[in-house]
Amino acid sequence: MILADGQILWNRSLGESYRCMGISVQTGYAQAIPGQFVMVKVDDGYAPLLRRPFSIHRLIQDGEKVTGIELLYKMIGPTTNQMGSMITGDSLNLLGPLGRGYTLPAEPTRVALAGGGIGIAPLIFLAAHMLQKGYDPDLIRVYLGGRSAPDVLCVADFEKMGLRVYTTTDDGSAGEKGLVTEPLERALAARGGQQLYACGPVGMLRGISALADRFQVACQVSIETIMACGMGACMGCVVNSTDPLDEKCRHACLDGPVFEAGQIILEHC
Ligand SMILES: Cc1cc2nc3c(=O)[nH]c(=O)nc-3n(C[C@H](O)[C@H](O)[C@H](O)COP(=O)(O)OP(=O)(O)OC[C@H]3O[C@@H](n4cnc5c(N)ncnc54)[C@H](O)[C@@H]3O)c2cc1C
Ligand code: FES
Repeated sequence: MILADGQILWNRSLGESYRCMGISVQTGYAQAIPGQFVMVKVDDGYAPLLRRPFSIHRLIQDGEKVTGIELLYKMIGPTTNQMGSMITGDSLNLLGPLGRGYTLPAEPTRVALAGGGIGIAPLIFLAAHMLQKGYDPDLIRVYLGGRSAPDVLCVADFEKMGLRVYTTTDDGSAGEKGLVTEPLERALAARGGQQLYACGPVGMLRGISALADRFQVACQVSIETIMACGMGACMGCVVNSTDPLDEKCRHACLDGPVFEAGQIILEHC
């Protein structure tokens, strides 16, 4: 884990509320794992004191060397709005990589990646990691959901990787009208055993977790709790275990943000 300033390489608009920011980092991210995150502090004199967590969206590489990270973010409050106004050459402070990321099966197997809203952010890194580990693109299916068309991000990026993408929106303005769990459920019924990887709002994670249970497939979920420190010091991110005999609480920042779906009570996130 490294605490360092990073210089902004680009800060691209992906529509009204979303941005994609490339940040140069000197060291520390070569071993980063999909699902891990950074705590960001913007330094402008009036931004909030607390850092905010962001998933690593992509590693930026110069050949084999990792020279930066990319963040995908939605402007919803002081930190993200401030980030949205930053330009190439500005700097911000990063603490990371933090947390436990997704783990891959020992051998490539059929997998489904499901993202809702800004939960799509870590799934690009996960897909790239799988391809780098030798996954045939045909083994990977991607399911992306959002409220409306502008909320369904990165479809072209996944397609450029050669992956098949299924999209849904609540209002039907892009893809199928409905929840992202619907095409996923059909695929599980048709194709059976797949490992599921999900990130998104807790309602979506509950739905996917229920599907995993029903179809008896492994499922890892990345949860987005409120986080104040990112290092296990503040108890701000505590979630409860599903095991009634296990009274030990889990820190989403240390034990997660990625958990086996059956391991934590998603209602408490
Ligand atoms: C592990 C992890 C990874 C994340 N990755 C990303 C990412 O890649 N891209 C991205 O845009 N965001 C991500 N988030 C969420 C992001 O950290 C928050 O939205 C952050 O609070 C925004 O900061 P802000 O100062 O702009 O707004 P804030 O003032 O902090 O938040 C604005 C509003 O959103 C609410 N809010 C903030 N966080 C949450 C939450 N987790 N659940 C429900 N409501 C919340 C606040 O209560 C407030 O009302 C991630 C969160 C976690 C825990
Ligand atoms: S964010 Fe402080 S303990 Fe997890």
